[in-house]
Amino acid sequence: GAKLRILGIETSCDETAAAVVSRLDDGTGRIEANVVLSQLDEHSAYGGVVPEIAARAHVDALDSLIEEALTRAQVKLADIDAIAATAGPGLIGGLLVGLMTGKAIARATGKPLYAINHLEGHALTARLTDNLSFPYLMLLVSGGHTQLVLVRGVGSYERWGTTIDDALGEAFDKTAKLLGLPYPGGPEVEKAAATGDEKRFAFPRPLVGEARLDFSFSGLKTAVRQAAESIAPVSERDIADICASFQRAISRTLDDRIGRGLLRFRTEFPQTDGLPALVVAGGVAANQELRRTLQSLCDRHGFRFVAPPHHLCTDNAVMIAWAGLERMALGMPADPLDVQPRSRWP
Ligand code: KG4
Ligand code: ZN
Repeated sequence: GAKLRILGIETSCDETAAAVVSRLDDGTGRIEANVVLSQLDEHSAYGGVVPEIAARAHVDALDSLIEEALTRAQVKLADIDAIAATAGPGLIGGLLVGLMTGKAIARATGKPLYAINHLEGHALTARLTDNLSFPYLMLLVSGGHTQLVLVRGVGSYERWGTTIDDALGEAFDKTAKLLGLPYPGGPEVEKAAATGDEKRFAFPRPLVGEARLDFSFSGLKTAVRQAAESIAPVSERDIADICASFQRAISRTLDDRIGRGLLRFRTEFPQTDGLPALVVAGGVAANQELRRTLQSLCDRHGFRFVAPPHHLCTDNAVMIAWAGLERMALGMPADPLDVQPRSRWP
């Protein structure tokens, strides 16, 4: 059957990424190349992403990454049907680099350009990996976002819940920093928690019991700081116990918050064919405790838990290419070449 092929570009944060993805008439997709360059080493000394360093690193890396993606896919620019580049939300310097590059390629080749919302990329990835049909719920948990989103269709999203302060990944990173663990903190906290006593500290479970579907994690971070200060100097053992208790508080909180979201989904969509689905995306989706919590929640509520492979949960250009393909396949219009990047784009 006919096949669409798109070059994807992602530069919204600290990953420079390019991908070539194709889509067949039957709606299935194929990843032909997926190249991601993490800037972790450049930022780790600062304990977080430095926007100016990120933008410059994107400039340095993007052209050759695109070439590498094309080479691996064994295609030339002439074989590409369109270009999809992240236009927001994210760090404006990085967005400018990726979107301008996308525009330049579109201008030079005469191919259409799709300016993609990064969150839409995360939201639609499960349709590439798991052939999921609409509607479904998506939980995005990364360093910058914590959102529960109803995915009704391509271009049709409803945010049901969001964090009112820190993102979940940010809470992991800040907790790690307080305890003297390296950046990024999420994996370190998970590792330390494995040997800790999760009952030693009773950390708060913000917003649990409330009807709205929002999240809050800054109080948890404060409680961690107070716990650490109360026993200074902290031993390895203390760190393990704090991390385990921290993860438990997060699990209990998500169990309550997402549980309410699943109930709401059931109310709004009483009849779906087969099991409705909860999809997880974002870097924090690597956390095993979080996965166990979501899996058991889905089991109890009769939902299918869908977790795309880790490298497609974290930032990548496959998801941007795929979002472009979904739009293109539906005949949705491409963007004009004067489209502007948007650092904020809900
Ligand atoms: O989606 P992502 O790779 O990128 C951005 O948000 O830009 O997410 C990164 C976040 C970081 O906050 C990191 O600490 C967190 O995901 N993370 C984890 C784990 N692995 C990564 N958090 C908890 N447990 C993990 N195993
Ligand atoms: Zn992301």
